[in-house]
Amino acid sequence: MVPPADAANERPIGIFDSGFGGLTVARSLIDLLPAEHLVYVGDTGRYPYGPRPADQVRKFAIEIADYLVTEVGCKLLVVACNTAASVALDDITERHDVPVVGVLEPGMRAAAQATRNGRVGIIGTVGTIASGAYQRLGASMASGVVAVCAACPGFVEFVERGETGSDQVHVLAERLLAPLRRAQVDTLLLGCTHYPYLARTIGDVMGREVVLVSSADETAFDVLARIERLGIDRQPGQAPSHRWLSSGDVDWFVEMGRRLLGPELESAERISVA
Ligand code: DGL
Repeated sequence: MVPPADAANERPIGIFDSGFGGLTVARSLIDLLPAEHLVYVGDTGRYPYGPRPADQVRKFAIEIADYLVTEVGCKLLVVACNTAASVALDDITERHDVPVVGVLEPGMRAAAQATRNGRVGIIGTVGTIASGAYQRLGASMASGVVAVCAACPGFVEFVERGETGSDQVHVLAERLLAPLRRAQVDTLLLGCTHYPYLARTIGDVMGREVVLVSSADETAFDVLARIERLGIDRQPGQAPSHRWLSSGDVDWFVEMGRRLLGPELESAERISVA
């Protein structure tokens, strides 16, 4: 049964990632849609998704999406994880009749707009790059953009440990980003929602003339457009509620998550998945 319009407007936006990375998107959503209720799931008990087989990531993503739509009653879903979106966005979209927004297409669009020399670097997890999703997206955009893709194994683990500016991550970045420097990209799409937390290191290594693009803001603009078009946006009034769920250590999730997202992350609840 379709709920009355005002009830639909009051339902939260659901958003998930393997861990803290989706908080970059949550930040943009809170800033751009300050009236909306939000429920965030960080699957920190099972991160990282990047090195896992595609079938397993798809299973995890479907489980969380089902939970957010069926049990929480979310009105829209944001798959704020490139690794999950690259292998499960279509499955999730087919399973549910709420709008589902991913992070790949908005990020790619922004990168294609930002490039001046037509050479766009895309970095992501092993799973994202191996899925070929960005390569397909780049080819389908027909904008004459050359996409140079590179996996960056290890970046996510540094972020999850809270080590975003260490010498070790700098050394790793020098090694992993070298092919992109050689390819002379002028724009680098951070194709993993964890990577904006490493923007300083990545920017230092790539050089100031390379534009770094994160999908967070573009994704939030897509969400805004979708909910306005459907007339399910929540009107400003009573303060929105934000719920933060983690499948791992909840105290660590609050401590680290608050540092990364900001004061809205006051407390977290444990979610048991699988
Ligand atoms: N934030 C996820 C992404 O965008 C991280 C992946 C991981 O858990 O490896 O791909």
